[in-house]
Amino acid sequence: MDASPTLEPGLPTREAALEAARASTLLSPRFYSTDYAAMDRLDLGPLRAEWDALLAEYEGDNNHDHFQRDEGFAAEIRELPPELSVEFKHFLVSSLTSEFSGCVLYNEIKKRAANPDIKALMGYMARDESRHANFLNMALKDYGLGVDLGALKRTKAYTYFKPKYIYYATYLSEKIGYARYITIYRQLERHPDKRFHPIFKWFERWCNDEFRHGESFALLMRSQPQLLRGPNLLWIRFFLLAVYATMYVRDHMRPQLHQAMGLQADDYDFEVFRITSEISRQVFPISLDTEHPAFRAGLARLHRIALRMEAAKAQGGLGGRLRQAGCALAGAATFARLYLRPVRRHALPVQIRLAPAW
Ligand SMILES: [Fe+2]
Ligand SMILES: [Fe+2]
Repeated sequence: MDASPTLEPGLPTREAALEAARASTLLSPRFYSTDYAAMDRLDLGPLRAEWDALLAEYEGDNNHDHFQRDEGFAAEIRELPPELSVEFKHFLVSSLTSEFSGCVLYNEIKKRAANPDIKALMGYMARDESRHANFLNMALKDYGLGVDLGALKRTKAYTYFKPKYIYYATYLSEKIGYARYITIYRQLERHPDKRFHPIFKWFERWCNDEFRHGESFALLMRSQPQLLRGPNLLWIRFFLLAVYATMYVRDHMRPQLHQAMGLQADDYDFEVFRITSEISRQVFPISLDTEHPAFRAGLARLHRIALRMEAAKAQGGLGGRLRQAGCALAGAATFARLYLRPVRRHALPVQIRLAPAW
């Protein structure tokens, strides 16, 4: 299959990279704020043994020496074809933004929380995310595109989410982050000739951090069973679809990146959904039927609408604005149809914790 050209603009300067990280669009990673006092009222009592075992793992810090470059790193950085280079830099910026988003949120909760369980957990997770963000930023600096993280923290817009939305959204983004990193790592383990940048070699131990972060939110939610039943299932369904759809459209805007790794964006995304759905059964009693042809067709339609939206933006003027409004309506209707599709239901397992076995 021929690769279609990249849709993202070049990132010629550090300022352009910062601008891309600050962008607030439907597809870009966000920064969050929440009701910190409400988080203090969490009670991990019923899951004390699992919780203490998890905190002991964080304390053990088995990745403390992982996020350092080895001697061969620099020598493995090669020049990339122009379109791949643009997509890869955007991939680094959006990965950096989501890693740093976690860092900012977890740090803020740690600072403001009084509950010692929450304070300890958030401190450990902020530690991990700051390592991840800095490691990505080093890769951007190689291209002269290091992002000023202080400026990003001060100037990016924050989205307020109630704590329960933070749990659903952050749990999913941690687990999908794990599934994304491990799927890339396994593919390049099988095809080392397609490893076009050394950073991918770090993904295996890296994604175990994300897996553990997800485990933390799984325990938090399982300790509050009301979050996982009744009307809240409608929210879970919403977040599952929002996270999957965003990832699908964003990945399909970067065809070269996946092709360079020997993956089709479609195969990659559905493998990531399969892994994420399998994992999320530990906490969500419903999952989306991502293999269903109608589900796949709906996502493909969302991608086509996003392409038309880009073209309408580029067109400008009144005609462009009208076409953009039309695309927004078509996008919302497609999302609603996907939302109303039947879901799979399952009982929650007694044993909550999982191992990163993919
Ligand atoms: Fe991370
Ligand atoms: Fe994480």
